Amino acid sequence: MPFVAVCSTAEVPPGAMRRFDIAGRPLAVYNVDGAFFVTAAICTHEHADLTEGELQGRKITCPLHGARFDVATGRVVSPPAFKPLKTFAVRVRGDLLEVDLP
Ligand code: FES
Repeated sequence: MPFVAVCSTAEVPPGAMRRFDIAGRPLAVYNVDGAFFVTAAICTHEHADLTEGELQGRKITCPLHGARFDVATGRVVSPPAFKPLKTFAVRVRGDLLEVDLP
């Protein structure tokens, strides 16, 4: 699957995160000090939108029960979630952020 455009880089400034629904998939885009990461936007514990949680560095905290994930790797940092988040490869072309959707 080719890379597809998600947003402009200006839409997600450093320290911010934002949800985009691309091809029917809810994606969370994070900007950590200028580095972009993309994960599935829905928590792996129950159904909560992670972009309504809190981003601190590379750690996203779920707004529902407080599970924490590393947005770069998808790894669970703290429970109650135990399944990692799906992550997606990203690239920046010009001012566009693109994601590799398998
Ligand atoms: S839904 Fe995210 S921790 Fe429960």
